[in-house]
Amino acid sequence: SGLAVIAAAYGGYDVLTKQASTEVLQGVEKQDAQGAYQEYVVEAREAKWELKAGEKISAWTFNGSVPGSELRVQEGERVKVVLKNTLEQPVSIHWHGYPVPNAMDGIPGVTQNAVQPGASFTYEFTATVPGTYWYHSHQDSATQVDRGLYGALVVESKEQKVKYDREFTLLLDEWSTEMLGAEQEATGHSGHGGGTTSGMDHSGHSDTSAPALSHDEMMQQMYNIFTVNGKAGGEIEPLQVKKGEKIKLRLINAGFQTHQLNLTNQTFKITHLDGQPLQSSPDVSGALLAIAPGERYDVELTAGANFGILCANDSPAKADMAVHVEVDGNDSHEYAAPAVELSPLDITAYGKAASVNANVKYDLETTLLLNNKVVHKDGKSQEVYTINGNIHPDIPPLRVKKGQVVKVAMTNEGTSDHPMHLHGHFFQVLSKNGQPLQGTPLLKDTLNVKPGETYEVAFTADNDGNWMFHCHDLHHAAAGMMTTVEYD
Ligand code: C2O
Ligand code: CU
Repeated sequence: SGLAVIAAAYGGYDVLTKQASTEVLQGVEKQDAQGAYQEYVVEAREAKWELKAGEKISAWTFNGSVPGSELRVQEGERVKVVLKNTLEQPVSIHWHGYPVPNAMDGIPGVTQNAVQPGASFTYEFTATVPGTYWYHSHQDSATQVDRGLYGALVVESKEQKVKYDREFTLLLDEWSTEMLGAEQEATGHSGHGGGTTSGMDHSGHSDTSAPALSHDEMMQQMYNIFTVNGKAGGEIEPLQVKKGEKIKLRLINAGFQTHQLNLTNQTFKITHLDGQPLQSSPDVSGALLAIAPGERYDVELTAGANFGILCANDSPAKADMAVHVEVDGNDSHEYAAPAVELSPLDITAYGKAASVNANVKYDLETTLLLNNKVVHKDGKSQEVYTINGNIHPDIPPLRVKKGQVVKVAMTNEGTSDHPMHLHGHFFQVLSKNGQPLQGTPLLKDTLNVKPGETYEVAFTADNDGNWMFHCHDLHHAAAGMMTTVEYD
């Protein structure tokens, strides 16, 4: 029976441990009517997880760790991932950034039913687009991703042009022990646990003497532990490298806040954004990588003798997020705020050279105005996040036909960052604040639109179905900022 197959595969995998990185899940080769495929088994389950000394939480995990097992597949491979749910909550898996067929996109109520406690679901796709992606639950995702239901998905290129001596996958996240505690109490009474936006409600913090905090400020205060691969501060295993080695880092932001990383005393190159290769990328040093929620940066470097630390440099609270690098076994580096203020790299600088889009005729053009406002409902005031003045599900979908080339302008008229993520497609960034990006296409699936900014992007409607298009600050998505692209 199906269950026996699951049990056998589950018991049979080997985990290859990589240093200070996530554990790679070994697949099992199998056959079906269409030929050979690799099967991976991922179990959604509860696990005690120590974020740092003295901070043990009850996490929701894929295969018992945070992040969950890394899925590393080969370009061209047929992949089946069996999701077994042993949590008490319904779950799903969404393949963030990877253009799977619509039925495999993992959106409860849109592409599938949520996978109920005790049930399983098999995701199936052929890995044709190499790159760095990640996977996470898309059921009540503001809660479930926050509790740990995420992991890396890497599609290895058949013809890797560069050989690396070592490779590390690092997933960034922030945690609120206060919110986790509150949720634990809340799930005691309410069976469904979905749809609530815990911590969103201004009236919940009714200290009227304090100046009103914006929703984002409140969140910044709530999140108190910052992790790399599920661990904070001294619990993060150092990266072991040798001087002169060629290193690849896959940096993935699985959190809801932008994290700015500084690689101290080390020149590096960004080779891919959201898994897609950049055609020109200069050597940089002394600049921050501002990785927005949902985004991925692939970084390449040749380890120098003094490569010290990889750390978050935007807030002292995030000193937790410091990954020490031991070059030839030598770790003498202390976290210190940088002497000079570093600025984040502007990724739109990577779209360079000749113009690509001058002659493209768009079949469809639309504008999304992103904003936030406070609404009053049932005697409470609540911050909502709007697209063209509306909140989900009252935002009309963007209707497209297969083959159309669609241009979308996004303007942020509000006060928060909005890392906008489109499922099932890559889009090309055409312009920022009216300035065209020239040349080598900058392809993304997640783009952080900051207050006051306007971006134009374009995508080809080449993947039939109903696709989510939402802010990847998942609290914002839960509070309205979510729409769909639907094919006629
Ligand atoms: Cu990574 Cu709809 O999400
Ligand atoms: Cu947002």
